[in-house]
Amino acid sequence: MSNVLHMEQQSATMCKRIKQNLWTVLFCALKMLYRLVKRVLRVTLCELLWFILVFVIFIVLWTVSDVKDTSAKVTAQYPVILWWTMEFPGSSSTRTCSNNIKCYVYSDREKNNYYNIGAYLFYASNINFKNLPLPRKPKDVIWGLYHEESPRNVEELLHEKALSLFNFTATFSRFSNIPFPLQHLHAFEDITSTTYFVETSVKNTYLKDISPIMYLQSDCETSTERDAYVQELMKLVDVDSYGTCLNNRELPSKFKTDYLNNLNEAEFLKFIARYKFVVAIENGACNDYITEKFWRAIKVGTIPIYFGSPTIRDWLPNPKSAILLEDFPTPKMLYKHIEQLLNNDTLYEEYLEHKTIQTISNDRLVNEYRDRPYQLDGIKVIEKFECFICERLHEKMNDRIEVNIVNKSHYDCPKPISALTLKVNPDNSWVYSWESAETNAAKIYTEIMDGD
Ligand SMILES: *[C@@H]1O[C@H](CO)[C@@H](O)[C@H](O)[C@H]1NC(C)=O
Ligand SMILES: *[C@@H]1O[C@H](CO)[C@@H](O)[C@H](O)[C@H]1NC(C)=O
Ligand SMILES: *[C@@H]1O[C@H](CO)[C@@H](O)[C@H](O)[C@H]1NC(C)=O
Repeated sequence: MSNVLHMEQQSATMCKRIKQNLWTVLFCALKMLYRLVKRVLRVTLCELLWFILVFVIFIVLWTVSDVKDTSAKVTAQYPVILWWTMEFPGSSSTRTCSNNIKCYVYSDREKNNYYNIGAYLFYASNINFKNLPLPRKPKDVIWGLYHEESPRNVEELLHEKALSLFNFTATFSRFSNIPFPLQHLHAFEDITSTTYFVETSVKNTYLKDISPIMYLQSDCETSTERDAYVQELMKLVDVDSYGTCLNNRELPSKFKTDYLNNLNEAEFLKFIARYKFVVAIENGACNDYITEKFWRAIKVGTIPIYFGSPTIRDWLPNPKSAILLEDFPTPKMLYKHIEQLLNNDTLYEEYLEHKTIQTISNDRLVNEYRDRPYQLDGIKVIEKFECFICERLHEKMNDRIEVNIVNKSHYDCPKPISALTLKVNPDNSWVYSWESAETNAAKIYTEIMDGD
């Protein structure tokens, strides 16, 4: 080490003497550096030069390939589908669809630099309208939208302008390309299964300990104003409310921690099944948007008091499988009806024919499951959608594709209506944001479609 220091001192004095000549100084510095490196790493000049050469070649190649990335992308053997928004499990591979047609499906945005992409797919809840694969190139590239979530997640998509940026969808709407209105029915057999079902006479004995109606929500400020409704109902009839909304009863300690993730556990289902009625009011109202709140009540055999999807009647196992708020437009009218059912078991059981005689008279429901059994499994829905898009891309290669533009029927959520008044409440903040999202959707559409 002291040797090195000594050498440095020597070089320094030498350099001082000839500092008027810049080139000499540079040479001197390089020589000094070389000596240092040689001492420390024990390499020869030749080895050092090789190292520098390899480094330079690497840099040159890297720069050239970068240029290639942005100028000429590769057209792959099969059409390429890229999930722009989300990494779905198992969707980074070659997808083989019916008739042995194939596509590459990736969820890695890096692929966007290499390949000519045939279709971009978007998971709606993760869309960032400020970060899209632009320019849109509507003639060359298809956009597909997968949206299974509540309307409150992406309010722009409540409006046709934003929807019409896309060519195909997979949504809960029956008018989607890959529809899944039964997404929250976990198994078709659940409808008639009596695993959790409690006989009316037994339910009646529970009434000395619990209320006839159960409410369980922890999301209290909703566009459907379910809390406002239940609050009025509570003035007329006892309701056990376990969630944070209008709470008046504690859950048993075994359910207390993280009940939201245990709603489908057998013990919890048994807990619910003791109730004669369960309030099932959605947090948003869209055609064919029916969540677990409804199907869980059907599964365990309690009567759902339902408000949400305007098309709910199309999915009831039997005409009387739920009490719909629209049929009893005030809490008072609903209460009168419930009182009748509480006083007459025959009347009460008319609502439970899917359990008592295990019938499903609704052909639409039966056919929906028969024709599209994939929809009970989210992963299968995604595979179906990828294959649907893959088929369209093959049609496009053969110039056989027609123009398709998504319209409101694919995700149809009217302006939110209050469960209490069955009218739009202009003071509800969700109504306000529904309206401002409409303006925003139009702006996004113009920016994207005129930005080409
Ligand atoms: C209960 O309702 C059924 C069906 O409407 C009716 O036939 C029956 O008379 C009622 N029973 C009583 C006790 O009111
Ligand atoms: C896809 O959607 C865009 C945007 O609405 C539209 O301009 C284009 O014609 C559509 N392409 C196909 C093949 O349907
Ligand atoms: C909206 O789209 C659906 C399904 O893609 C189609 O059947 C319907 O005709 C369209 N409606 C309008 C008004 O264009």
